[in-house]
Amino acid sequence: MKISKIVTTAAVSLLSLSLAACGGGAGSGGGAKTIFKLAFNQTEQHPQYTAGVEFGKKLEEATQGRYTVKVYANEQLGGQADVIQNLSNGSVEMMWVGGPVMESYNPDFVVYNLPYMFDSVESFRATMADLDAMKELYTSIEESKSITVLAGVYAGSRNVYNSKRPINTPADLNGLKIRVQQSDSQVKMIEAMGAVASPMNNGEVYSALQTGVIDGAENNEPTWDALKQSEVAKYYSYTQHLMIPDYLLVSTKVLNAMSEEDQEAFKKIVPEIQAMASDGFQAFTESSIEHATSIGAQFNQVEDKQAFKDLVQPLVDESINANETRKALAETITANNAAHPAK
Ligand code: GCU
Repeated sequence: MKISKIVTTAAVSLLSLSLAACGGGAGSGGGAKTIFKLAFNQTEQHPQYTAGVEFGKKLEEATQGRYTVKVYANEQLGGQADVIQNLSNGSVEMMWVGGPVMESYNPDFVVYNLPYMFDSVESFRATMADLDAMKELYTSIEESKSITVLAGVYAGSRNVYNSKRPINTPADLNGLKIRVQQSDSQVKMIEAMGAVASPMNNGEVYSALQTGVIDGAENNEPTWDALKQSEVAKYYSYTQHLMIPDYLLVSTKVLNAMSEEDQEAFKKIVPEIQAMASDGFQAFTESSIEHATSIGAQFNQVEDKQAFKDLVQPLVDESINANETRKALAETITANNAAHPAK
């Protein structure tokens, strides 16, 4: 064998090794294909799953098969707080993450995790669609953590549910142990509303409810129902305290390792995927309510939401006024609320 041939063979093996290391393998067209693992903590019925699969198809087309995406649902790659560390070190390439998890990486993300910030779904979506206004925040942890935020999507509004009783007033929450997402803002929020906070991973909530470790949680209807929490916490009360984005993340290192042309193609797909994930949420919410009702869940409207708002207002004020960046981000929300008031 000629030296040049040996060198080529060695280079090819090295290439396949590195592709295997980032989840790649031989593509069906015979060319090398790199597969980005996209971690997801919910089921295949969720619109973010469908949008992730679509991202893969579009990326494959746009890069002539050089790249694609495989979505790993149901926390197969771990809970969000762990997965984001793996994304930061480059061993997971992409993920969907709940907004509060971002606070440990840059506390300014808190602006979007505070209660009663958005007056309407339209205001929320207009805020998320303004990628220019979000750009600084989205790229703020690229250098330090190798995390790039691509887009925020609509993930419903969050309400309190529990196994004991309907919640109508803050007093009804007294003494109840309520699971929240793992961040400072979420703990402070639920405690201000009158409950005892219990932060944990989404995947642990069902058994914590079942064993009585917690009395309830707060989430959108699809998460509550698809993860079977509706079987063990049947009182779902419309406090409507939160509208929080889920973000699509990519490892900065992984993104930068693509050619400029492929990076362009990758970024161009984002707005379409963002819209797709957000659009699908309403129908998913309706079918979740229907299913939960069929298994005996009980819904109640909260007449006096102002009572909850008043209790969390100091937290909102303190969090927003902490620095100029947050004030500016909150101002764009105020402007969008004025343009898209509550109906
Ligand atoms: C929602 C959200 C998830 C998040 C989950 C949670 O389902 O879409 O990103 O992980 O809530 O409460 O943990």
